[in-house]
Amino acid sequence: MASTDFPYAQFSLVPAICLLLLIFLCYSPFDAKLNNPIFSLSSSSTSPETNNHTGTPSVLVNGPRSTLMYQSRSRHNTNKIKKSSLEKIEDDLAQARAAIRKAIRSRSYVSDGKETFIPRGNVYRNPCAFYQSHMEMMKRFKIWTYREGDHPLVHYGPVNDLYATEGQFIDEMEDKRNPFRARHPDQAHAFFLPFSVTNVVSYVYQPILSIHDYRRDRLQRLVRDYVHVVADRHEHWNRSKGADHFMFSCHDWGPDVSSADPELFKNFIRVLCNANTSEGFRPERDVSMADIYLSYGELGPPRLGLDPRNRTILAFFAGGAHGHIRELLLEHWKDKDADVQVHEYLPKGQNYTQLMGRSRYCLCPSGFEVASPRIVEAIYAECVPVIIKDGYWLPFSDVLNWSKFSVRIPVNRIKDIKTILEAIPFEKYVKLQKRVVKVRRHFEVHRPAKPFDVIHMALHSVWLRRLNLKLEQRDY
Ligand SMILES: *[C@@H]1O[C@H](CO)[C@@H](O)[C@H](O)[C@H]1NC(C)=O
Ligand SMILES: *[C@@H]1O[C@H](CO)[C@@H](O)[C@H](O)[C@H]1NC(C)=O
Ligand SMILES: *[C@@H]1O[C@H](CO)[C@@H](O)[C@H](O)[C@H]1NC(C)=O
Ligand SMILES: *[C@@H]1O[C@H](CO)[C@@H](O)[C@H](O)[C@H]1NC(C)=O
Ligand SMILES: *[C@@H]1O[C@H](CO)[C@@H](O)[C@H](O)[C@H]1NC(C)=O
Ligand SMILES: *[C@@H]1O[C@H](CO)[C@@H](O)[C@H](O)[C@H]1NC(C)=O
Repeated sequence: MASTDFPYAQFSLVPAICLLLLIFLCYSPFDAKLNNPIFSLSSSSTSPETNNHTGTPSVLVNGPRSTLMYQSRSRHNTNKIKKSSLEKIEDDLAQARAAIRKAIRSRSYVSDGKETFIPRGNVYRNPCAFYQSHMEMMKRFKIWTYREGDHPLVHYGPVNDLYATEGQFIDEMEDKRNPFRARHPDQAHAFFLPFSVTNVVSYVYQPILSIHDYRRDRLQRLVRDYVHVVADRHEHWNRSKGADHFMFSCHDWGPDVSSADPELFKNFIRVLCNANTSEGFRPERDVSMADIYLSYGELGPPRLGLDPRNRTILAFFAGGAHGHIRELLLEHWKDKDADVQVHEYLPKGQNYTQLMGRSRYCLCPSGFEVASPRIVEAIYAECVPVIIKDGYWLPFSDVLNWSKFSVRIPVNRIKDIKTILEAIPFEKYVKLQKRVVKVRRHFEVHRPAKPFDVIHMALHSVWLRRLNLKLEQRDY
């Protein structure tokens, strides 16, 4: 944090008086669980919500799990400096946990006077805990990005289009200005494996002559080899059995990376857009990343959303019949209703972004995969997302209470979309919509990344999982 290349220069404009510690009260309606060994940013899993998609990653309320170092270096080989660096890291995390627990207990947080934004209100499961935790992350979190591997499969990824965040994230992590960059692996709380699944698919899977050429084994072998290379050269993978290591992928195939060798990847943190709980997404260990479409050279669409009162379309969707949920949606609603506007192809002359900005609710059904950029497109257009998906773990659910700013419609009630949405009173809709505007910042892409933006949200999710883990030294 003391490093001079810390990019948040605007913080230095804050008047010196703010550097006094200020205590703010947090009005959190749900911080009853003060007895958790570690903090909870979520409600208990017995919450009345019936949706599993907003349920609680149990690990977040169970306290740090221990992972003993299992490697058996002989005692005389044990490097004292390395040992104390691990102790230092664990001390650091212990202090962060204590500060977060305190924020939960006292329903307040300690400010360092540098904040530009303070999370408030019920879109957060626990705004105090989140604020404190984000601040501790900014202050302490250091990540080592492995240097092994070559372009274009490693250290490089797409920065536009459907899988844009893959390249943006890798680039951000490798940027010299990134404040989370560890200068040495011994300083790191977490380790990033900077391969791009999207690039593996576009460069290695050539030529495609038959369906068999899509088999995942090339991807799986490549990633396994990469892990073996870094585990051979550095002690860190073996030390935690991969539990403080993570990958980042928005490609549909991202989850397949680890399925060929479940033992090797048992503890590995996978940051995935394709967060399908029926396909082995593990919410307590993996991170659900928002799927974001970026046009060439842009970090997001222009702000076009209309005031709630001026939104004349009740619900909007345009997209292909990908997968059974969309087929159902199109079957029931395609070009049939003026209020629920569902199109397979947008009529000529119509503008998708503008239509979303004129709609109250934006339908977000699963496509071939659970994730789709529509949720974030809706949020950008300040349109309330209607989530029509099975088995999708919503992004950043450790922190955000999605039921406060989205509507969930079960797949078997697609035919009732209009009735369900019309039954929501206008005042309630206005509240939902205001909260969409409020969470927008957490889905915005900035380069360099900014506090509380989507890259920081992804890192914060990794940070939470690291806080729930305790590495211990064990010598034989
Ligand atoms: C999230 O919001 C729902 C609906 O308003 C509420 O029932 C639930 O208790 C909230 N969960 C948390 C953790 O605040
Ligand atoms: C980590 O474990 C693997 C497999 O047991 C071993 O081959 C490798 O040499 C170990 N790495 C280090 C740095 O000791
Ligand atoms: C809504 O639209 C009307 C007519 O175009 C315009 O006069 C008004 O300013 C708009 N209201 C808001 C709050 O944008
Ligand atoms: C849709 O409208 C927005 C805002 O006016 C504009 O930026 C975008 O280029 C338009 N898209 C198309 C495909 O015309
Ligand atoms: C999620 O995974 C299950 C199990 O593989 C699959 O049946 C389902 O189609 C997937 N959902 C989507 C939307 O891809
Ligand atoms: C949702 O939770 C219920 C009860 O805990 C469980 O039986 C079901 O499998 C879960 N569904 C998903 C998609 O996780």
